[in-house]
Amino acid sequence: MAISIYPITPAFVAEIGDVDLSRPLDADDVAAIKQAFWDYAVLIFPGQDLTQEQHVAFARNIGPIEPSIGAYRPDSKLRLPPELVDISNLNIKSQIWGDKSRLRGLQLGNRLWHTDSSFKFLPARASLLYARTIAPIGGHTEFADMRAAYDSLNDELKRKLPGLIAEHALAYSRARTGFSEFSESERKELPPVPQMMVRTIPENGRKSLYIASHIGRILGMRDDEAHALVDRLIAHATQRQFVYTHRWRLHDLVMWDDRCTMHRGTEFDDLRWTRDMHRATVSDIANTCEQEGVAIPAQS
Ligand code: OGA
Ligand code: MN
Repeated sequence: MAISIYPITPAFVAEIGDVDLSRPLDADDVAAIKQAFWDYAVLIFPGQDLTQEQHVAFARNIGPIEPSIGAYRPDSKLRLPPELVDISNLNIKSQIWGDKSRLRGLQLGNRLWHTDSSFKFLPARASLLYARTIAPIGGHTEFADMRAAYDSLNDELKRKLPGLIAEHALAYSRARTGFSEFSESERKELPPVPQMMVRTIPENGRKSLYIASHIGRILGMRDDEAHALVDRLIAHATQRQFVYTHRWRLHDLVMWDDRCTMHRGTEFDDLRWTRDMHRATVSDIANTCEQEGVAIPAQS
């Protein structure tokens, strides 16, 4: 039986049924899922029953797996294998984290609008987040359609933004939340990286804004101007007509295209309720400057 596609919004979010992601998929199903993924940008697969291995195996249909940045911190033990990013509020013993825990300080940055791994030279292409335990209240995830946000920019911005290169770093977004406890090895592994502010999605030719709270500088622009521009663009792109809020059900798997969406987690009482989400992340094919055919600037 072929997969079923139920649009949630006309061109951004769809639910996918009649597919069991725990099993190897045949080529037709993979092709149909990919087509839906390019047509929309956020796909929801409700009621999936997945082991960690099956989750990662499904993600490999979309492309190569990006390892978790947890691996950059040699002194910290990980609760999950390196192919999965831990988006829970749990410590290594699977207990709810303490209010002063380092992990909590780091993860609260996920409540800022961002796209995954734009702070890596080779950013993420797709993220596949699976809900193993959900909070009874709060803890939703919001998604913004950056193609629609681009299309509705005014002409001045449509002229100005293409060609601009922003510098993204995890330390920039975390500075916004007051977190700065990065280790030497993390600083070394995660220097600021260049990314285009407008990119083209090859599968459908649509242009998309590529911005995030990870941006700290825009090349060739004064920092105060750059910060004002980034804040203005995030405010533009996250107006309600571009945003879908996902209210999680247990065992939803939600897959989003990091090239043309932003997302953020909403609040919940993370010192009270367990929220256990695992993310498999698929790498993009090249840095965004390379994909747009723009020379990569020398490290400034
Ligand atoms: C993520 C993320 C937000 C959330 O998984 O990359 O930012 O709602 N998640 O957990
Ligand atoms: Mn994220």
